Amino acid sequence: MAVSFVFAAVFGYLADRLRLPPLVGYLVAGILMGPFTPGFIADGALAGQLAEMGVILLMFGVGLHFSASELLAVRGVAVPGAIAQIVLATLLGVGLSALWGWGIGAGLVLGLSLSVASTVVLLKALEERNLVNSANGRVAVGWLIVEDLAMVLALVLLPALAEILGAHATGTAGQAAAGMPLALTIAITLLKVGAFAVMAIFLGPKVVPWLLTLVARTGSTELFTLSVLAIALGIAFGATEIFGVSFALGAFFAGVVMSESNLSHRAAADSLPLQNAFSVLFFISVGMLFDPSILVREPMAVMAALALIIFGKSLIAFCIVLLLRFPVGMGLTVAASLAQIGEFSFILAGLGVSLGLLPREGQDIILAGAILSITINPLVFFAAEIGEKAFHRKWPAFFASYGAKRQGALARELGDIRAISDERNRQHQLKMQQLIDTFPLFAQVDEHAQEELLLLFKPKSASPGERIIRIGDRGDGMYFIASGAVEVQLDDEPVRLEPGAFFGEMALLSGGRRTADVVAIDFCDFLILDRRDFNVFMSRHPALRTAVSNMARERAEMNTLRRNPDQTSGAA
Ligand code: CMP
Repeated sequence: MAVSFVFAAVFGYLADRLRLPPLVGYLVAGILMGPFTPGFIADGALAGQLAEMGVILLMFGVGLHFSASELLAVRGVAVPGAIAQIVLATLLGVGLSALWGWGIGAGLVLGLSLSVASTVVLLKALEERNLVNSANGRVAVGWLIVEDLAMVLALVLLPALAEILGAHATGTAGQAAAGMPLALTIAITLLKVGAFAVMAIFLGPKVVPWLLTLVARTGSTELFTLSVLAIALGIAFGATEIFGVSFALGAFFAGVVMSESNLSHRAAADSLPLQNAFSVLFFISVGMLFDPSILVREPMAVMAALALIIFGKSLIAFCIVLLLRFPVGMGLTVAASLAQIGEFSFILAGLGVSLGLLPREGQDIILAGAILSITINPLVFFAAEIGEKAFHRKWPAFFASYGAKRQGALARELGDIRAISDERNRQHQLKMQQLIDTFPLFAQVDEHAQEELLLLFKPKSASPGERIIRIGDRGDGMYFIASGAVEVQLDDEPVRLEPGAFFGEMALLSGGRRTADVVAIDFCDFLILDRRDFNVFMSRHPALRTAVSNMARERAEMNTLRRNPDQTSGAA
């Protein structure tokens, strides 16, 4: 890991100096650390596992910024687009492998591997161009999610189909599924994925925000970050183990579920550094798998695969987008986004080899195709931008009008969805602002602490005449008056406290008994910080504690003075 990070940092920087995206540097670092180049060889198995963490965290991050309604909004283009693209690209793959004299099974694996793009690469590319939140970016991500779903099905079906496709199974995967009829396998898989989706959609939004709130109330940032990770990885793992859904997809849904919570921003901010670090390891592990000699052994095959990925797939995607009556610009962005392959392709290729469907060099060709297409991807984006400009110049009328209606409708729908979530954020912000406006005391703690207070406060209301605090009781909590008024009943005359004031702090600070009765003299709303939360929160925010203590001391002094007025004259 140490060598990975050092190499990645050095080569990432060098790549940047050469005006290449840093991920090219990470790939090179991986190749240098791999078993096929001389010198240091890193632990490939470990790299693979850590890379998987990267993919999980990354997909989780996408999910955090993606709501279920946005996913539904882009389904009109993403679902038909992804399916048609997979089918066509797979057919191209089958054709290609027929040329090489491979069987239909090998062709199927090759075609499927070449048809599914890498999430990591796609997201980095969109991020770099600030497209993640644009309509085109949303469509590209939605498209990819559908591809991932299709690959889940493919991974399950492949072993079942292996027999029919004339595999000479070497692994155990083939035999396990061979006993079951194909229709049953498909039905079970769909059922499992469906069950997972139902759980994620209906149970998730109830349980996850509740859990996060529970942890956030402890006030420990460490525990919060840990819980975010635990939920993301836990759901991802559960999705794989129980439902047979892929890790990445599980993590994506974990993110979507969490995105409904007010705490999602904090969750996103907390997991981002980890996401970045581990996604670097993803590129390293890809680089490590790569055997550069394939470029010499099978240059033509590699070139053909690369052409299929870069030209074949993008052309298909572009045409599909236009056929679905969306504009040229979207077609180009989606095409460029998908003109690469990655993690799923390796998994498929690995399975294909272990089932005896795909020859070994097939796997090497797929890897070479992945490395090259990932490296060239920025160029493809660049070409797409140039193409867009050229198109605009040549056929301005067509460029402006074709697909504009559907694009407009989609952008509006996405905009509405965004507006709803913005509104929710605004409401939350407003609540925080109200808190500070009512209680200027809290202006001295940072935003995190204010959020925490919102979670810690327990509301309580009282009617006029109700006794809130009884003298001599043990201190159970501190009260903040949000509305109404109370009277602190001191011996001589009562003290009236109004919104913005607090009471009940003395017994908490001293650990002793309540010093006075407090009675509501109006319809009141209080925010209560109970004793345990008070102690934890105050110990974390000494400035606040001092302010509250000073107030308590002043009050105590005032009370002694009132009880012995002679002291006043004496002092005077
Ligand atoms: P506590 O002793 O916990 O319960 C009674 C509360 O009345 C006490 O905390 C203070 O918050 C409040 N209190 C006591 N004396 C005064 C005062 N002179 N002015 C305002 N509030 C007071």
